[in-house]
Amino acid sequence: KDTSISDRSLDSIPENPTSTVQSLYSLFITKLNYDRTTSRFYDQLKLPHTLEYIEVHNSDDAVRVIKNMNVRGAPLIANVGAFGILFDSENSHFTEVDDYKNYLLEKISKVANSRPTAVNLHNILKRLTEIITNGKYIGDIKDCLRGTIAGLYHDEREENRRLVWNGYNEIISRPAKDQSDRYTVITICNTGSLATVSWGTALGVIRALHEHDKLLQVFALETRPYNQGIRLTASELQHGEVPFKVITDSMAAYAMSKFAIDAILVGADRVAMNGDTANKIGTYMLAVSASYHRIPFYPVVPVSSIDKSISSGSEIVIEERPEDELLFVNGQRIAPLNVRAWNPAFDVTPSNLITKIITEVGNFEPKDLHTVFRN
Ligand code: MRU
Repeated sequence: KDTSISDRSLDSIPENPTSTVQSLYSLFITKLNYDRTTSRFYDQLKLPHTLEYIEVHNSDDAVRVIKNMNVRGAPLIANVGAFGILFDSENSHFTEVDDYKNYLLEKISKVANSRPTAVNLHNILKRLTEIITNGKYIGDIKDCLRGTIAGLYHDEREENRRLVWNGYNEIISRPAKDQSDRYTVITICNTGSLATVSWGTALGVIRALHEHDKLLQVFALETRPYNQGIRLTASELQHGEVPFKVITDSMAAYAMSKFAIDAILVGADRVAMNGDTANKIGTYMLAVSASYHRIPFYPVVPVSSIDKSISSGSEIVIEERPEDELLFVNGQRIAPLNVRAWNPAFDVTPSNLITKIITEVGNFEPKDLHTVFRN
């Protein structure tokens, strides 16, 4: 294992994370199998206690598993949605190109409606829509969809390594508060291999810090009400033998006052061009607390999560999930009967609370996004 920080080569982020998570990791990812036109994913509703696959054979399956949150995380749902459309295309037997196109475009609009906030899904569907509308022949469109989706999948894995590498370098560019020269970070939700097709975003950076012996510990927020932190992030960190503790979301500010926290690392579902960042509900609260305690706050964001069409976070549609996800725990109602709940799945962190946005093409202050990602 390479523990030398002076080795700043991207090669020190191998294609796959090492350690015991490797075996688990290899199961997390999409299986590209065109003959069987199936992709398989862990059913994240069953984790951490049961490792069970859920299969996607078409876009109706994709819509179902995305809506039910059997799969979740912005990059992963984009892949699941794209594979669903690919399988619809592979299994279709149209003779008229317009019938084939209308069929797929209708499927795309259903997939697009599955979850509104993460832009990765919408970005990839936009690209598929362009291929379909511009194509002339069914065979050519099928080939192009196949090539594009396989290409995006492979590119995404490479981009993810760079993202993790950039995040790792950003963190170690500031001295650690602990004398051991190791860093303590806070994260929310699940942004690891389960949420992506490779290392992960914020959790990928945390894993890289650990693999380079630069991590003292992680505080992982439970992430009410869906508990991605305590169920999924805890599971990935445990398998990776990463030192961590889970805390409830409401303990974050106190943890910042008690411990020498070096950074807050979070994922993103959609970033507006002014840097406002939508992510899991609770992220905004974390950013406010981080600002009060003068702790750097970093969204770790693949470029596919940046929405170049919107200038500020007020334009981001925030998904509202069923009330029962809040009112029930493990199928048991915890609130009195007839109590109502409000359950937004995401919030928007204003850009002035963000230190830098980490991407695979560089780390940028929010004010610079406009220049860097101009169309
Ligand atoms: O509702 P979820 O679990 O899909 O929300 C996931 C998040 O908010 C993640 O932080 C985000 O998708 C980035 S995942 C790499």
